[in-house]
Amino acid sequence: MSTALIEIPARHRPAIHPLTVRVTHWINALAMTVMIMSGLAIHNAYPILPVAIPDALTLGGWLGGATRWHFAAMWLLAGNGLVYLAYGIVSGRFRRKLLPITPRAVLADLRDALSGRLGHADLSVYNAVQRLLYLGVILAGLLAVLSGLAIWKPVQLGGLTALMGDFDNARLVHFAAMAAIVTFLLVHVAMALLVPRSLKAMVVGR
Ligand code: HEM
Repeated sequence: MSTALIEIPARHRPAIHPLTVRVTHWINALAMTVMIMSGLAIHNAYPILPVAIPDALTLGGWLGGATRWHFAAMWLLAGNGLVYLAYGIVSGRFRRKLLPITPRAVLADLRDALSGRLGHADLSVYNAVQRLLYLGVILAGLLAVLSGLAIWKPVQLGGLTALMGDFDNARLVHFAAMAAIVTFLLVHVAMALLVPRSLKAMVVGR
C-alpha cells in the first residue's frame, strides 16, 4: 500500500488567520494608533507624569482636538475589540492558539529566540513567547479600556474608579497600560518586519 504524502495547494488549506481576525486586527492597529497618539497629546496638555512627549508623536494639536480624536477612536477600539474577543472565545481560537503557556516553555523559547534558533516554519502555531505577549497585550488593552472608563465617567462609574484607588491612580493605571501596549508594539512590529511571511499571512490569511 502506498503511503506517499500529497501536498495540498495553499489555496485549499485552511486560513492561518480567519477573515474576522485579520479585519479586527487591522482595525485595532488603526484605532490603537489614534488612541495612543491622541492620548499622548492629552497627556502633554494635562500631564500625570513629568514627561513631555514630542509633538511629532501626538495627534490633535491641543487638548480639545486631541480629546475629540480620543473619544472618536474609543468607539472603534471598544466595538472592534468586543468582536475580536467574542470571536476568540466562541470559536475556541484563544484556547487553541494562546494556551497553554508554561514558564518552562516561555524560558526555552526565549533562549532559542535570543540565540537565533527559534524556527518560524509553521506560522499556524504560536511559540510560548508569542502566546505570552499576545495574551498580555489583550489584557493590557482591556485594562486600558477599563481605566479609560474610570477616568471618563468617575461619578457614574465611581465603583470602577475606586477599584483603581482614586481618579489620579486610575490615570496612572491608564498610562501604564498604554506604556505596556507601546512596548509590546515595538517588539511586535519589529518581529513582523523580520518575518515578512507572517505579515503576509495577517493580510491575505495564508
Ligand atoms: C502596524 C502595526 C502592526 C503590525 C505590523 C502587526 C503585525 C502582526 C502580525 C504579522 C501578526 C501575526 C503574527 C504571527 O503570525 O506570527 C499579528 C498578530 C497579532 N497582533 Fe499585530 N500588528 C500590528 C499592530 C498590533 C496592535 C496595535 C496590537 C494590539 C495592541 C496587535 C496585537 C496582535 C495580536 C493579539 C495578535 C495575535 C492575533 C490572534 O492570533 O488572534 N497588533 N500582528
